Parts: sequence; C-alpha cells; structure tokens
Amino acid sequence: MRALQSALDADGLIRKMESDLENLIAEAESGVAELSKRRDDRWHPTFHIAPVAGWMNDPNGLSFFNGRYQVYFQHHPLSGTPGLMYWGHVSSPDLITWFHEPIALAPSMEEDRDGVFSGSAVVDANNVLHAYYTGHRWRNGIDGKDDSLEVQMMATSHDGVRFEDKQVIISPPTDMPHFRDPKVWKMGDIWYMILGASSDKNRGEVWLYTSTNMTDWEFHSVLFRDPDPNVFMLECPDLFPLGDKWVLVYGPMGKTPTGYQSRNGHNAGYVVGNWAPGKTFSPLTPYHPVDWGHNFYAPQTFESPDGRRIMFGWMGSFTYVAPYPSEDGWNGQLTLPRELRLNEDMTLTSSPIGEVNQLRVATHDFGALIVPENTSIVLVEDAGPVEIEVVIDSTRSTSERIGLLVHKTPDGSHVFVGYDDLSGRVFLDRRLTGNGDRGCRSAPCSRGEQLELRIFVDNGSVEVYANGGQSVLSSMSFPTSGPRSIEISSESGEIAIDSLKIHRVGTIWEPTN
Ligand code: FRU
Repeated sequence: MRALQSALDADGLIRKMESDLENLIAEAESGVAELSKRRDDRWHPTFHIAPVAGWMNDPNGLSFFNGRYQVYFQHHPLSGTPGLMYWGHVSSPDLITWFHEPIALAPSMEEDRDGVFSGSAVVDANNVLHAYYTGHRWRNGIDGKDDSLEVQMMATSHDGVRFEDKQVIISPPTDMPHFRDPKVWKMGDIWYMILGASSDKNRGEVWLYTSTNMTDWEFHSVLFRDPDPNVFMLECPDLFPLGDKWVLVYGPMGKTPTGYQSRNGHNAGYVVGNWAPGKTFSPLTPYHPVDWGHNFYAPQTFESPDGRRIMFGWMGSFTYVAPYPSEDGWNGQLTLPRELRLNEDMTLTSSPIGEVNQLRVATHDFGALIVPENTSIVLVEDAGPVEIEVVIDSTRSTSERIGLLVHKTPDGSHVFVGYDDLSGRVFLDRRLTGNGDRGCRSAPCSRGEQLELRIFVDNGSVEVYANGGQSVLSSMSFPTSGPRSIEISSESGEIAIDSLKIHRVGTIWEPTN
C-alpha cells in the first residue's frame, strides 16, 4: 500500500515538475515575444543563426534527429544581456534553411535553478533524443563570487521540441568550482562523456566518463590536463576523430595573451592526438586557435548523417556585452556551419559547408582586374548581406596590404579584411570600426601563387576564410548608420586580381518563420 502511495506521489511529482517546466517555457516565450516587438534590426543577422530576441551564447545539443538538424543554444530569453540560461532551439531540414522552435529547456529544478548550462544531445536505439547538460547553481544563490555548484543532468525527448524526465546523472566527487559542459558520443556498446573540470590544484582538465545505459555513468579518467598552469578550467570540451587522429577542442580559461594568440576575453583552441577507448589521450601537437577572429567561442561539433564533421561556434562576447547590440533587444549569433578536415601537418581546416553556396541569390562578377597602387575602388555602394569571393595573384601583386573595406559607412568607419604581405598573415582589422570593441586580429596564411579569400558580411558580423579554410577569422561588426559600401584597396603597390565575385546572400529563415 505504502509502495503504491509513493509511486502515486512520485508520479504526481513528475507531472507537477513537467507542468512547472511548461509554465516556465511559456513565460520565457512570452518574454521573447515582448522583447522582439522592440528589436532593432540594424545588426540582426540574415544568414547566421541568432535568437528572435534575447541573449544567445554557446551552441548546444547539435544533432540530426526526427529528420531534421537540431541546434539548441544557451539563451537568456528576457533581455539582450546574459542572465538565467535556458536552451533555445532552431531546426532545419538541410542546414541552411532554419525554423525557430519553442524554448526547449528551462531551469525548473533545484539543481538547475540558476541555469540550464551547455551540453550535447545524442539519439538512442529507440529513437529518443537525450540531452545532457549542466545544472548550474550559484553557491551563494546570487552570483559567481563564491563559485558554483554544478551537476550533469539529462532530459529526453521524442520530438526534439518538448523534453521530459529531467534528472541529475553525475555529481562532482568533491566540491568543485567548475564542473560542466558534457559532450556525449557512442562507440561500440559504450557511451562516452567528456566534461570540463577545475582540479583541486586549480588546473584545467577534461574528465572522461562512461556508461552502458545512458543514465548511470562512471568516472573513467582525466583525459587531458592543460599544460599551462594559468589555465584553471577547460570549457565546452569536444573530442572527435578525423582520419586516424583525435581532435580535442576546448576553451581554456585563464590563458594569457601571447603574440597573435589568445587575445580575446575567451579563446577556443585544439590539440590533435591519439586516443582509443580505454587508452589515455596523447597529444601530438601544441595548442592552436580554431578561429583567429575577435568573437569565436564554445564551438561544438557533430557528425552529419553523411559523415561530415560539422562545427558551429558562438560569435559573441561576455567581455564586451553592452551596449552593442544588447540595446537592440538581442545579442549573440552562431558562425556559419563549417566542415572540419585534418591536414597532413595535423592542423585543422574549417570551411563553410557546401550547402552555404545555395544561399547566394544574385552574383556580380567583376572578373579579373588590377587595382593600381594606393587606390581604393568602390565595388558596391550599399551592400546588404553578401559573400565576397576573391582570388589574388600573389606573383603579380606588390601591395603591402591587399584588402577589402566592408561595412564602410559615410562617416568613414569600416572593417578592413585581407592579406598583409609584411607579416604574411590574413587579417580582420576593426581599428576603425563604427561601434564597439576594436583591435586587429590576424592568422598565419601561406601565400602561394594565388590567395583565395571568402568573406561573409552579414548585418552584424564578418567571417573570413582564407585558402579554403586554412585560416579563419570571425568577428562581430556593428557599422554606423547609412549605406554600407564595399571597397578594394591597395597600399604602396598594386593588386592583381584573378577573379572577384560578390554574391548577395539570402535569408536562412524558412518562409513560415
Ligand atoms: C561557455 C559557458 C559554458 C557554460 C555556459 C553558460 O561560454 O561559460 O561553460 O556552460 O557558457 O552559459
């Protein structure tokens, strides 16, 4: 009798939790709707995933489920600044047309009361989606001054839209200030999970867990410890095979800027090594940035049904939040989806997935041209969202910097992207940007006989892919008002262009959205 009563009580409790979750989601949804009424679109992206309104950071739960690509993301629905985190959600049949879905996960339990933090999602043999995420609490109940209490949680879904059965699956062995961001995958009959942790000696580590049933997890080993003693935590780790090697991607917290590297408030990089189930991870390379721009963090990958390793990163910043574009009622966007490949020298190439070409709606072909020395030529007087494809003949170009001024407005402010022949690097220079954080970022780049650049200019961002994704830079850019022109510019030498095309890029949002 007592057993029956407690079963009924447990059932009642679960139903109550689920209706609490639904109510929280409904409230958050109306928050987003309210905020979207006063959204300013001057910088809101056309072809990058961004929230309808509210704050976005990390991509979460990347998966292919129910016939669609599912992208969840860290989302604060009630303002354009970071706050209580939910999982926002968009989905797509083809990775280039997207649909805004309702908020997927909300903080509805004591263990996730201060945030449904980052995590991943995998599909089981019964076609159920399992979302793994970090339940976050501030220890003092208010803010991060006294560290956090973090546990790993799981929720399941039959349609990718509504989640249920939220539960804690892993608690830290001792009190730990950082213990988060589970990434799960399966090999053979075993499920593997890695997460980021701060050791008792304050070192950034990646911990490995295993499970046979997706719910009960055992600690296996410390997979990786960052050799840099200043690094105290590795956020959002991801481990995946490319060829016969394994790539470990993570966000090292506490890394000091050196030269061109680690200059952002938060930086994401990778090491390549050997790993096999039951074995330790042995790195074979030093740490390399994944992307050299101002705003790239918390990338996550998944394997598409056709076997490609696809990555989305977050183009945003916790360091320079306000006022741009938070005052517009939103903040944060994802990069284009990128396919990763491993080169022979064990560096990563990341280039926009082929489908992105389908977003081109019109093309202006400028053909081959010479830009005489110290000359700027206006290519487009008022460009909306565009992709610029340019092939430079390195053997005939003598210009010190070979570049394109984008987001150039009548007051002269702009972002300058291109190749610097003095340093041999491809650059994204925001020193004369209209609004927000400045600085110049650059990446190594082999010049060869030809230099290929693909530059994606959306309303509030610029992404540069050099030589098929050998070097990538992603940065937010918030131009001042007025027409946004594009110019090509030479400095103390001429530029020989083999081909130059500017494609107008259409929206990624499904017409019903
Ligand atoms: C990375 C991160 C994660 C955390 C989430 C919270 O940007 O700090 O470690 O889970 O964002 O929004």
